[in-house]
Amino acid sequence: ALVHAVRFVKGGVSMETLPTGGLAEVAFVGRSNVGKSSLVNMVLGRRAIAYTSKTPGKTQQYNYFAVNEGRAVGSFHLVDMPGLGFAKVAAPLRARWNAFLSEYFASRRELRMVVHLIDSQVPLQETDVSIMQMVGAAVAARSEQEGSGLAPPLDYAVVLTKADKNDGRVSSRTVDQVRRALESAGCPAATPLVPSSAKTRMGREAVWMLLREVMSE
Ligand code: GTP
Ligand code: MG
Repeated sequence: ALVHAVRFVKGGVSMETLPTGGLAEVAFVGRSNVGKSSLVNMVLGRRAIAYTSKTPGKTQQYNYFAVNEGRAVGSFHLVDMPGLGFAKVAAPLRARWNAFLSEYFASRRELRMVVHLIDSQVPLQETDVSIMQMVGAAVAARSEQEGSGLAPPLDYAVVLTKADKNDGRVSSRTVDQVRRALESAGCPAATPLVPSSAKTRMGREAVWMLLREVMSE
């Protein structure tokens, strides 16, 4: 098994309150209720180490899970992020969160990969396009400044969630829509698209293929 141990480390609310220590991390981002916390549980093989809810807005902090902590090989942080685009958040608070998020993408050195979860069963939302633009800009900026001692290169992947609602299939219309939006947002043409279901565990292997890139060796 790839997961020998998992520990909830802490919830961060600003750049200053994120864990120190330099372990590489992968962040799960996406709209509220898209299934980020459910996917954390699915890939870690834990029933409820990350809290999920039918009601959007469940995850409120950058929740850090240490995977295989202390091992020379296979350790990393998985970060379960708060959902974006949740209407019930007041505008000033939302602005503060967005500022934190762009700073996090641009300058968090430990961040090596952003996994963007998109609901495969609803049309692409404006919030998803904003996330693509924000991550696309960070990926481009970081690859340009490579070797300058600033934040290292950033990988990006998209996971299409809740495929069980359509018998495990993601329509080619949805895939085309996502591909076109990625291109318009300036995201790499080779951005992986992985269909998944936290219910049937579909996509578990493919997500692990992505995570392996970030694990210590
Ligand atoms: P926030 O923390 O509020 O941003 O939400 P989240 O993205 O963490 O979503 P969460 O994992 O809490 O799941 C939201 C709802 O979607 C819950 O009712 C889950 O049971 C459901 N859900 C998550 N993944 C799947 C899936 O693959 N298939 C189905 N059918 N439902 C899912
Ligand atoms: Mg959550």
